[in-house]
Formats: sequence, C-alpha cells, structure tokens
Amino acid sequence: MDSGPFKELLKERCGLHFEEVRTAKLESAVYARMSDSCILSAAEYFQKVLKDTDEFNKLVNMVTINETYFLRERDHLKILVDRLVPELIGASPNQKIRILIAGCSTGEEPYSIMIELFEKYRNSASELVSVMAFDIDSDAVAKAMEGVYGPSSFRNMHDNIRDRYFDPVGENVFRIKDFIREPVSFRTANLYEEEFPEEFCSVDIIFYRNVSIYFDPDTQKEIFTNLARLLKKGGYLFVSATETFSHNIGVLILVEFDGSFLYHKGDIIAIEDRRQLSGSGPGPVCRTVPEKDGFSVDRLSATLHQFAGKFCPDKRASHELFDKAMSLAKDKQYEKSLAELDLLIRDEPSFVKAYILKASVLINMKRPDEACDICLKCIDFEKWCLEAYLLLGFIAKIKNENDTAIRRFKDALYIESSCWLAHFYLAEIYNLIGEKSNSCREYEITEKLLEKGDTDEHGITYFPIYFDRTQMTHLCRHNIRKLKGIQAA
Ligand SMILES: C[S@@+](CC[C@H](N)C(=O)[O-])C[C@H]1O[C@@H](n2cnc3c(N)ncnc32)[C@H](O)[C@@H]1O
Repeated sequence: MDSGPFKELLKERCGLHFEEVRTAKLESAVYARMSDSCILSAAEYFQKVLKDTDEFNKLVNMVTINETYFLRERDHLKILVDRLVPELIGASPNQKIRILIAGCSTGEEPYSIMIELFEKYRNSASELVSVMAFDIDSDAVAKAMEGVYGPSSFRNMHDNIRDRYFDPVGENVFRIKDFIREPVSFRTANLYEEEFPEEFCSVDIIFYRNVSIYFDPDTQKEIFTNLARLLKKGGYLFVSATETFSHNIGVLILVEFDGSFLYHKGDIIAIEDRRQLSGSGPGPVCRTVPEKDGFSVDRLSATLHQFAGKFCPDKRASHELFDKAMSLAKDKQYEKSLAELDLLIRDEPSFVKAYILKASVLINMKRPDEACDICLKCIDFEKWCLEAYLLLGFIAKIKNENDTAIRRFKDALYIESSCWLAHFYLAEIYNLIGEKSNSCREYEITEKLLEKGDTDEHGITYFPIYFDRTQMTHLCRHNIRKLKGIQAA
C-alpha cells in the first residue's frame, strides 16, 4: 500500500508525523477501515477520507497513541499543588485558576490533577480551579467522560488513593467518583487547528505532556507557540521531562521548581528559588565515564523469577524452562540457554521476558543484530516493554549509532519517565557528541532519581552494567561539575 497520501493528510490536518516505525500501525488502521467500509482499494478509501470528515476522524482515532496512567510524572502535580496554586491564588485571589490539558487521552491526567488538588485542598479544590481537557481522539474523550478504568491506569497509584477517589464497578475495574469527575470538562479538539476554541483562551496553566512526540520539530514549535499564546502573563506550561529541551526555543522561559523544569510566561511573579536556566552551545567532547563491557547475569536472577511468575502464572513447564535458561545464562552456557529459550518461545510465544533474556544472552555472545531483532519481536508482543527499548538503546550505543541510541532511550523514557538508566545513557551520549547542556541536564535528572532511591526497577534488571547507587551518584555529580566547569570557561 502507498501510505504516503495518508501520511501527508494526517500531517496537514493534525500535525501527526509517521516515522517508519509507525507506518505499520497506520497501514493496518487503513486496512481495517477499508474492510469496515467495504472498500477494496486504498486509493478509493483515500478519496473517502478526503471528503468525509467522520471517516477521517475514525481513522485518526485508530492511529493515535493514547498511552497514559494516573499520577504520571507526579513531580509536576506536586509543583502545581504546592507551588503554583498558592502563587496564582495569591496574585489573583478572586479568580479561579484555569487549567487546560492538551492531549488528555482517556482522562487519567486531568483526573490526577483533580485528585492531587483534593488531597491538599479538600472540598475547596473545585472552587480554586477549573479544569478543561481535550484530545483529538473522540473515542478517548468519550472514555475520559465515562471515567471507568482498569489495572494499567492504576500502575502508579497506591490502592489507598485509588479507593478514596474511585468506586469498584467490576473485577479490577473502577469508576472515578463524581466529585472528581464533575469539575473536569472534556471536549474533542485538534491542537493543530489554526484557532483554538474561545474557552481555551487566557488560561493560567497548560499541561501538554507526552503529545509533542508525535509531531516533527517544525510542528512542535508551531503548536508550542500557539499554546503559549493561550497562556495569561505569569502562566505556566508543563511538557514531560523528555520533551523539555526541545521546547526551549525562546517562546517561554524555562524555569525550575524543586528540581523539575517547566515553562513560564512573563516575569510578573517573583519566586525566590526560581532559577532560569542558562543556555549553552556545544563544545569539545569530554568523556569521563569508563565503558563496561561485561554483562553480569547474576543480579538478574531474582527479578527474572518474579517476571516469570507475572507473565506465566499457571504454566509450570514454562516456568521451569525459564529457570533453566536463566541458570544456564548465569553459568555463561549461552548456547544451551538459547536452546531452552527457543523452546520456551516456541511453546509460549507471548512470554515476553523470555525474549528479553534471549536478547541479553545474545548481547553477551556479541550478536547485537540478532539481539536487536529479538527486542523488536518482543515489542510486537508488548508494545510498552521498557526493557526492550533499553536494550535497543544499548545495542545502538555499542554500535556507535548515537542517533538511534538517543531515540531508543527517549522511547524508554516515554514509557517510564523516571527510568534513571535511560537518563544516564542519554547523558553519556550527549556528552559524547558534545551536547553539553543536554548532557548536564540528563546527569542532573539521573542524580535526582538515584537520590530518591527509585532504583530497583525501571529496566535495570537486564542491563549490562554493574550498578552501585552511591558510585553512580558520585559519577553523575563529577560529570555535572566537569561539564559546568567547561561551559563556564
Ligand atoms: C500519549 S497520549 C498522552 C496523554 C497524557 N497527556 C499523558 O501525558 O499521559 C498522547 C495524546 O495526544 C493526542 N493527540 C495527538 N495529536 C493531537 C492533536 N493534533 N490534537 C489533540 N490531541 C492530540 C492523542 O490522541 C493522545 O491521546
């Protein structure tokens, strides 16, 4: 199929950019819609999409990626509740704070905001703020309005918070309570329209997180500039941690609160500890972190057992095969481990962690291309497999394919923004290619995450470096100082 015309149309109308990796998703959406519409040729279907807005919207709904969950990047929500709300209320005590969520997907983000506000301000929350949320995907918006969620939405929320704000409506299914749902308004809207709806104008705070990833750099700039226009002077705009630097284009001021970065419009409100970041151009490369080639499988064991249980709870035979493959890998009997893993994958093709272990073993055997194929296969089964993206980043890095490595580690951060390992490797690669301010920023995030002690998960299980938290923290600090020293010179 020639997907070119569809790509152009989606870019022109919605700003959506389809890289090679996402072409398959677009093509399968087109085929599915063709089949539903009883149309046999893609060219004929394209004509229908051109003329028929409903059909175009249906196609859009199928190609958007709605991945989201409650309390994602909770640091931002804390800044909102603890810092911005008091500041903005202090500046205009009689006005509600107007919050706009752009690209709200199925509603987890706006409801998280209301929940955090209720946690702090109790019943006054809905008097302090109004929350408007929109998304281009009308199916996602309908789901947001319904407010019913399954386990994956709650993966970052403790049960006790969930139980305060949700009612059970089925096994592992919960509905948001009315007092959180009602203050949030939803609508379908397109970020890439020339004009935004009137009600979005003059807002105090915009959340625009994990959306720009679907746009090319020019479209990102255009949309960010348009969103900045909606902000009142003194307002704030959040993008996700991974999107921060690509939006530092001189439209809004990048500011820091409590170690997190966000954008600010104008300078009418003074905050003692707000620090504006200074920009810096690329300089000479300074690589200070020694490469480690060895891959210790030992430390993988415990977590892999856990994963095995998670993915294959009832299948004893698969368990046993996996354990055997693991212990063979630990003994460096890689060929034999691979043989067991192949058997396991043949019998249990959706046993995702078997692919990851296989990829790790292949890396140990210095067969990175095969490891790469296995990781891609793994992603076919589990689209958001953090470990697969981390290993793909690592493989690209050892092959000196820095652009690919950066992209892969960013993908990992897209799945889990607090994955210190991805931040660390981004810091390393940026340092290597001379992007010093990016490198410094990534080391700072890594250091912060390590200090928080949030290091037991997020994909390090399969990663081929030895990890010691104290050492890593020192390493980051050392590199930050060095980078800053070089910048100042
Ligand atoms: C990955 S979700 C992010 C959800 C949420 N902001 C978060 O951070 O968890 C990206 C959302 O952006 C939406 N989106 C993509 N292009 C858009 C556009 N042109 N206008 C409005 N929403 C768009 C998608 O439909 C999708 O629901």
